[in-house]
Amino acid sequence: MCASTRHTGYAIGMAKPKTIYTCEACGSQFPRWMGRCTECEAWNTIVEEMVSTVAPLPPVAQGRAAAQPMRLSEVPASAGNRSSSGFAEFDRVLGGGLVPGSVILLGGDPGIGKSTLMLQVAARVAATGQSVLYATGEESAQQVKLRAERLGAGDPETFRLMAENDLERIIAAINDLRPNLVVIDSIQAISSSQLAAAPGSVSQIRHITNQLIPIAKQHLTTIGLIGHVTKEGSLAGPRVLEHMVDVVLYCEGERFRTYRLLRGVKNRFGATDEVGVFEMAEGGLVEVENPSALFLAEYEAESTGSAIIATLEGTRPMLVEVQALAYPATAAVPRRAATGYEYNRLVQLAAVFEKRLGLPLGKADVLVNVVGGLRIGEPAGDLGIAMAIISSLRGVPLTGRTVVMGEVGLAGEVRRVHQLEPRLREAAKLGFRRALVPAKNLPLRSPIPDLEVIGVDRIWDALRHLREQVTTEPAADRATAPHTGEPGPAVTVVQPARRPGRS
Ligand SMILES: Nc1ncnc2c1ncn2[C@@H]1O[C@H](COP(=O)(O)OP(=O)(O)OP(=O)(O)O)[C@@H](O)[C@H]1O
Ligand SMILES: [Mg+2]
Ligand SMILES: [Zn+2]
Repeated sequence: MCASTRHTGYAIGMAKPKTIYTCEACGSQFPRWMGRCTECEAWNTIVEEMVSTVAPLPPVAQGRAAAQPMRLSEVPASAGNRSSSGFAEFDRVLGGGLVPGSVILLGGDPGIGKSTLMLQVAARVAATGQSVLYATGEESAQQVKLRAERLGAGDPETFRLMAENDLERIIAAINDLRPNLVVIDSIQAISSSQLAAAPGSVSQIRHITNQLIPIAKQHLTTIGLIGHVTKEGSLAGPRVLEHMVDVVLYCEGERFRTYRLLRGVKNRFGATDEVGVFEMAEGGLVEVENPSALFLAEYEAESTGSAIIATLEGTRPMLVEVQALAYPATAAVPRRAATGYEYNRLVQLAAVFEKRLGLPLGKADVLVNVVGGLRIGEPAGDLGIAMAIISSLRGVPLTGRTVVMGEVGLAGEVRRVHQLEPRLREAAKLGFRRALVPAKNLPLRSPIPDLEVIGVDRIWDALRHLREQVTTEPAADRATAPHTGEPGPAVTVVQPARRPGRS
């Protein structure tokens, strides 16, 4: 893997500038330009960099004690003591708080709220009496002060701000102040004068990180690096940065929506895949303790084309509304579009409907939307989306407050989901009284109070739980139908009695 490729050429002391070629995707370096990186096989990622260095400091001067082998019992234990970031949601993603001596990389799209979050963390940590240095290379000290005032950050005695682009001066300040927490905003905006490469270049950000890691370890300082993310979703610059630091977090969310997800991607001190939820408010980011309630805020039970699914973000279950709109196709080729859900899965679901249920989806346009701008990355959302589509097609809502989960296979079978019980508990907590789940997941190890759990084997079993349509067929048929097997009477239920949109 490219990550394991260590190139130290630029760090070997030489004063003469030389040109090297660096892959922006993986950080590998080459003596000449190529169209394709031979390490990570990415196209057009190799850029020219001018590099000249002065001799690097020996490791001891960098603060790394000359390593002597020691017994585990001789290793000082204090390095493991975590301290709170001041945000329970942030601590959760970190695996329990800030670890002294660790380096955290926080990535995210421009304007998503990275500086806001780290400034709030910095102020909260400082408010507990720990010393904090916030170094910004992006904004003036006045801008940061204005933001701090807006965030109600106060003026903690132990908080120091520094508007600086020069790595060496920032390092001097760290050595001087020995803060508990250092924030660098952002890694692309500062540069080392030891290196002729441009700020933000792969060589620079790798060099900066290489310089800061031993300093964090030496002073037992937690260093938070803010990094910008490219449109492709990777940190601008090399992925090698992710391998160097201890923790990688991404701040996500849609620009025009208020909530933000803080996602752990890598963590040397805890589980990855943990998610923290925040809401962007006038006074900065506010923790959301009950994200499902936020995502369901505008949900109206009994509306057609809508279903509630229970999805997992990391280990955390979240209830989310999915919406579908199915209407007669406006062109010869029916249109499918999905926001927050994988397009290919939607195409697959539509094909299952057409082939297994005889639904005329080949003549219908289908739009699917996950409310709140969340992305459903797991197949457990399939059944809910399927129900929303059928509900829209037939113009009938799902019954009552029902939550739906399950993967739908090509034969129309409902496949099991992992971690069913936490999802169900979350649903019960939010007042849902009925859950449609894969029959293969049952029986539950322990019943969930106040929640009726209904197993479904095939997608057509789930259709019985659409609100009864008096105009079509005898209600008794569905009320008494056992929850088993084949597309018997349930299929007739499905004949589209009326189509919304055709009046
Ligand atoms: N004066 C303000 N009042 C209310 N909200 C504001 C104000 N200024 C900024 N914001 C909110 O904060 C967001 C910007 O946050 P922030 O500057 O922390 O983002 P960032 O990720 O650091 O961006 P950048 O990539 O530009 O550094 C804006 O999108 C906006 O929602
Ligand atoms: Mg910023
Ligand atoms: Zn590469």
